[in-house]
Amino acid sequence: MNTTLNTIFARHQHRDGALLPILHDIQHELGYVPDEAVPLIARALNLSRAEVHGVITYYHHFRRTPPDRHVVHVCCAEACQANGSEALANHAAARLQQGDIAMEPVYCLGLCSIGPAIQIDETTLHARVTPEKFDALIAALGEQS
Ligand code: FES
Repeated sequence: MNTTLNTIFARHQHRDGALLPILHDIQHELGYVPDEAVPLIARALNLSRAEVHGVITYYHHFRRTPPDRHVVHVCCAEACQANGSEALANHAAARLQQGDIAMEPVYCLGLCSIGPAIQIDETTLHARVTPEKFDALIAALGEQS
């Protein structure tokens, strides 16, 4: 981690307002901003640890723990609800209770007429998702990993 941080510090340290670009780069490289990085960032920018910590916690964008490997967004907006997204969300929550796949609600994925809709990892959209189709998609995700 220290080599990565030093590279990032060297890239931005000389700039005014370097903290945010440094935090963005750390999250991009490591997937999150580890607590152990806070004192190193503070020293590099001549800030207090509280100042660095305050910025990290102020912006919800910054993660303080490693991300889940996969995120499944289940649409919970009105049109998908009319097509059974609530039951699908309950099924998904039970199915994903363990493991490293997170489920997050989302409010419209643009597939309103062919819901319920889900999106896997910000990239792949799926329509008319039944619990059985959901299980098959999650199983395929596990095989890819
Ligand atoms: S309401 Fe679910 S995709 Fe639009």
